[in-house]
Amino acid sequence: MKNIRKIGVFTSGGDSPGMNAAIRSVVRTCAYLKVDCIGIYRGYQGMIEGDFKPMDARSVNNIIQKGGTILKSARCQEFRTKEGRQKAYDNLVREGIDAFVVIGGDGSFTGAMIFNQEFDFPVIGIPGTIDNDIFGTTYTLGFDTALNTVVEAIDKIRDTASSHNRLFFVEVMGRDVGHIALNAGVGAGAEEILIPEENLGRERLLESLKRSKESGKSSSIVIVAEGDKTGKNIFDLKDFVEEKLPDYDVRVSVLGHMQRGGSPSCYDRVLASRMGVKAVESLLEGKTNLMVGIQDNAIILTPINKAIKGHTKIDKELIRVSDIMSI
Ligand code: F6P
Repeated sequence: MKNIRKIGVFTSGGDSPGMNAAIRSVVRTCAYLKVDCIGIYRGYQGMIEGDFKPMDARSVNNIIQKGGTILKSARCQEFRTKEGRQKAYDNLVREGIDAFVVIGGDGSFTGAMIFNQEFDFPVIGIPGTIDNDIFGTTYTLGFDTALNTVVEAIDKIRDTASSHNRLFFVEVMGRDVGHIALNAGVGAGAEEILIPEENLGRERLLESLKRSKESGKSSSIVIVAEGDKTGKNIFDLKDFVEEKLPDYDVRVSVLGHMQRGGSPSCYDRVLASRMGVKAVESLLEGKTNLMVGIQDNAIILTPINKAIKGHTKIDKELIRVSDIMSI
């Protein structure tokens, strides 16, 4: 078993609220256990360029509440090449880094897994993405905050929708999955939620909107996950509905990257703190190639390859609840 005395930590891929809280947790756990900690800037890009900075307990003061990531993030193409990974490895060895904690999504974990296989380098992942699309954890860091951000935005859209008796299509992030759409949709009381996991077709949407009008609703919110395929895109969906249901005055709102920003919720801060501790402790126990997750409120470990290959499931009960609520 490799003796671990210096741990690198970095954030990679799309940023998410709670990443700073996770960095803080990794750094402070290292300090607590008397292990050196090195911050690696801009993810794998910084690893390739040797962009490192020693971090002590005080270097992460006052960041638990901050959105984004103080270590910056990147999607690094060069790390996909063998030469890029070799440069990264040489830099880690030169710096005396024995293991790393990667905070990111499945693309970042794939990089870590390949790196571990090629160089037998100890790695542990912390799932940081607003999409909640990582197998092996009920919640990823940033998902809860993003839901609160989306619900707040939709509450505001509802004010104007109801003042003008309008139908709003609101597009939310989530890449290929509908977790943000479904959860925020139920939380914001959306009339319809369109997600990639359930393609019920455009006709059903029309039926539902007709019923909604007949039941006395004068305004409506339809949440569309960015990966949904009901229309070619959200604007195509708007044109379709306007053509088929001319009574509706339709508007589109694409929430975009504001969903990734903002101060993390208490839930994300606590989750990040717990995950960071577990990540460092696991490395020091000689564990590697694992991702930290949460299940039934317990912090657990899942092999990284399972986390990458497994698929998260949409909550069918929530779909039923949404159907009932939108009567
Ligand atoms: O994975 C997080 C995420 O925000 C997705 O929801 C979205 O599809 C994607 O990243 C956007 O990526 P970028 O910031 O590169 O535009």
